[in-house]
Amino acid sequence: MQIPFSKPLIDESVIREVNDSLVNTGWLTSGPKVLELEKEIKHFTGVNVAVCVNSWTSGAMLVLRWFGIGPGDEVIVPAYTYAATSLCAMNLGATVVMVDVCDDFCLDPEKLADAITPKTKAIIPVDIGGWMADYDAILKIVNSPEIKNRFTPKGKLQENLGRILVLSDAAHSIGASYKERKSGTCADATVFSFHSVKNITTGEGGVVCLNLPTTFDPEESYKYLKALSLNGQTKSAFEKNQPGAWRYDIIDQGLKANMPDICAAVGLAQIRRYENVLLPERKRIFEFYQKAFSDQPWAIIPILQNDLGSVSSAHLFMLRIMNCSESDRDEIIRRISEKGVGVNVHYIPLPMLSLFRNLGYKLENYPNTHQLYKGEITLPLYNGLTEKEMERVVEVVKDSVNKVIQAKAT
Ligand SMILES: Cc1ncc(COP(=O)(O)O)c(C=O)c1O
Repeated sequence: MQIPFSKPLIDESVIREVNDSLVNTGWLTSGPKVLELEKEIKHFTGVNVAVCVNSWTSGAMLVLRWFGIGPGDEVIVPAYTYAATSLCAMNLGATVVMVDVCDDFCLDPEKLADAITPKTKAIIPVDIGGWMADYDAILKIVNSPEIKNRFTPKGKLQENLGRILVLSDAAHSIGASYKERKSGTCADATVFSFHSVKNITTGEGGVVCLNLPTTFDPEESYKYLKALSLNGQTKSAFEKNQPGAWRYDIIDQGLKANMPDICAAVGLAQIRRYENVLLPERKRIFEFYQKAFSDQPWAIIPILQNDLGSVSSAHLFMLRIMNCSESDRDEIIRRISEKGVGVNVHYIPLPMLSLFRNLGYKLENYPNTHQLYKGEITLPLYNGLTEKEMERVVEVVKDSVNKVIQAKAT
């Protein structure tokens, strides 16, 4: 039995929705489906600004660019994340400052204050695997008078906010909650990813959500971000296509980051069933694994929820093997893969990657990141994974880990 690590949900309802774009609306680039998807996201998350884009990466760049971040500014990210969390800031010329993580894989608020300087303009906590970062603790730090006084605003938006921007890397966390508040509403800006392996996909894509103080006008912010996603153009091709509506302006040096309608159609078919069907199914798989590994003395099992009302979106099942060296973990993965089960590691710490290492970031400055990485294995978790497949994953993983542990003991 071959079990891939991930598989996008492509069923009749997705095909019907894409067909509607191809056959009925006849519109492929950003148009009615994108507007509908933005409406669904606002309804689902409770935010009042949602702008669909063509990836998390470009969405995060749009937000940072909109907030006026560029050369000379610093952006704080956890050392344990995917490269894009850092690249979105670096590609705008900003300098990235890395911070270690807690045992839940999320940015450690206790290490945050020391990383903040007068140049810090944004913090990007990551909701890794769908478990949300500690936003109350992070916001408490950026709102503290001492940190606020050191903030040196540049431009209208930074003056309006009057402090460091908190941009949530929610690539994994659509549908998650932090202390009973939905992902999307816990930071100033939140970007979800709709990449093929995510809980909701548009092939490639993402959405920028804002949750700013009332001194920011939602409609104005939406229009500006939308224009920024269209090379700074005030109208999409769909709007310009209306009779007599040809004239437009370019109001800023934007990016080309808009989502095509044909992609939005895939996501629309999924988000409509997300809360009641797709998300509960993911949580059931997560709970199945939790229970199945609970009798293994070596297993450090990720949590789905806590009694503060935080609930994961069950994006990844990030299993940890206790006291595991990196080479033992790699040997376990080799054995698992040999049996036809696809697993993955989330993530290789940024300072271990050539780009960041060559820039001078050092793994020894992030000891918990290194420790967590060494024993981490992510198991298959997606809609449509059958009980038989889950049982097989558990059997193969247990067997592979126990064999490596036994080999070490002899
Ligand atoms: C934590 C995290 N942030 C950002 C991204 C980038 O997302 P995208 O591929 O939509 O740009 C990913 C993608 O895997 C991710 O896992």
